[in-house]
Amino acid sequence: MINSKMSRRAWLKGAGASLVSAAALRAQTAPATQTAPPEGQTSTHLLDPQQNVGEPAAIAANRAQRMQWWHAAKFGMFIHWGLYSVHGRHEWAMEDEAIPIDEYMQFAKQFKPKPNAPRDFARLAKRAGQKYMVMTTKHHEGFCNWDTKLTNYCATKQGPGRDLVREYVEAVRGEGLRVGFYYSLMDWHHPDGARCATDEAARRRFVDYTHGLIRELMTNYGKIDVLWYDVAWPLDAAGWESEKMNEMVFQLQPEIIVNNRNHLQGDFSTPEQHITAEKGDRAWESCMTLNDSWGYQRADDSWKSPKTVVRNLIQCARDGGNYLLNIGPRGDGSIPEESVRVLEEVGGWMSRNGDTIYKSDLCQPRRSNYASFTRTGNTLFMHVHFWPGGDLELGGLMTKATSARMYASNQKLEFKQDPYQLKLSNLPQQPPDHPVTTIAIECEAEPTQDNIFVRKEKPRDGV
Ligand code: GLC
Repeated sequence: MINSKMSRRAWLKGAGASLVSAAALRAQTAPATQTAPPEGQTSTHLLDPQQNVGEPAAIAANRAQRMQWWHAAKFGMFIHWGLYSVHGRHEWAMEDEAIPIDEYMQFAKQFKPKPNAPRDFARLAKRAGQKYMVMTTKHHEGFCNWDTKLTNYCATKQGPGRDLVREYVEAVRGEGLRVGFYYSLMDWHHPDGARCATDEAARRRFVDYTHGLIRELMTNYGKIDVLWYDVAWPLDAAGWESEKMNEMVFQLQPEIIVNNRNHLQGDFSTPEQHITAEKGDRAWESCMTLNDSWGYQRADDSWKSPKTVVRNLIQCARDGGNYLLNIGPRGDGSIPEESVRVLEEVGGWMSRNGDTIYKSDLCQPRRSNYASFTRTGNTLFMHVHFWPGGDLELGGLMTKATSARMYASNQKLEFKQDPYQLKLSNLPQQPPDHPVTTIAIECEAEPTQDNIFVRKEKPRDGV
């Protein structure tokens, strides 16, 4: 498809422009000498994972087009569901408790979720304001949630007796959401899963198996929107044949986006359990648990509050990232009640305030001890999580404000502004919205904040 070695490399480095646009890419890509990676970087996976270094414009444009829906989506649901959901002691129990394999395999018989359980996941995601879902097709335990021809250790041939991935895909599409597949490269069940690192024949078998499973997932379920690789232990990109892997994925799913956990950059980075923006234009998605476990852990009562979740979502949106928030359903397919409660409350807030998240641009203002911010154009959204009551102040806003209102109720607010402070007054004593109240401040230009200016210039007292 791609005729010169260099442009093929650049193409793969971009984690795959679609084959549909490969011709366009050929036409648009500058001669090979100009598309070569920076000097000293001979392999795509050695490029700086933080940035899309030296990326040709056509690849960046193709990625931007594929990722448009994802950037607008902002909020997704992660689902960890497998045999560990039966055990109920975290998805790493098989390793962390060193459970003997025949003991662990009993869970495959006991895994009997109620029919169409994924519909409940998808409906909850919809109510929460989440626009896409990413479910484990195979986690580290090696059990395949779909109807695979490559192993008997799969949903159709074990306890569930049916294809859970198909149910999931249909449920997600039924709610009008985008479909993502999580796939763990690391495999604790397959006999070659560890020895592939030291035995070439084992590596060959295991890589063929892995590519074969991914091929099934990319072939049998229609259009898939996200492929979310995880843990590439114990091989490197060459060992996994990751470039070939992505090439196959993009051949089968030209519009898909892929993450960066098969040792290639992919389309986006995946900060885990923290919110850290990427540099430059690089896309990122912060994935997080609702308590402290991904898979169902019956004793984990460390639930995040709806306020924490909303604040996290605001922080991601402020810095241009997505937020992928996890649920860990039980083996019977039921969703822990706390997850439902938290997500529904977040969904209520999103139904009143969602556009301040979905339509947000990068936002520079960030300093307040009771609010955080997002921005759309010249409008600054001040999201107040600790309501001070009566009046409310913002220091260092460098842009002239022209009006202020409660976002959800549209109620106009009185304000005064001097070079250092914007002061809103005559506010209710109690927070008008829960868990966070959003105030929209219209500005003359893109709002910026400079607190050092305040520190240096605000008039001081004499000694
Ligand atoms: C880690 C964990 C895994 C979880 C994943 C989600 O890689 O090993 O259990 O699925 O994070 O990002």
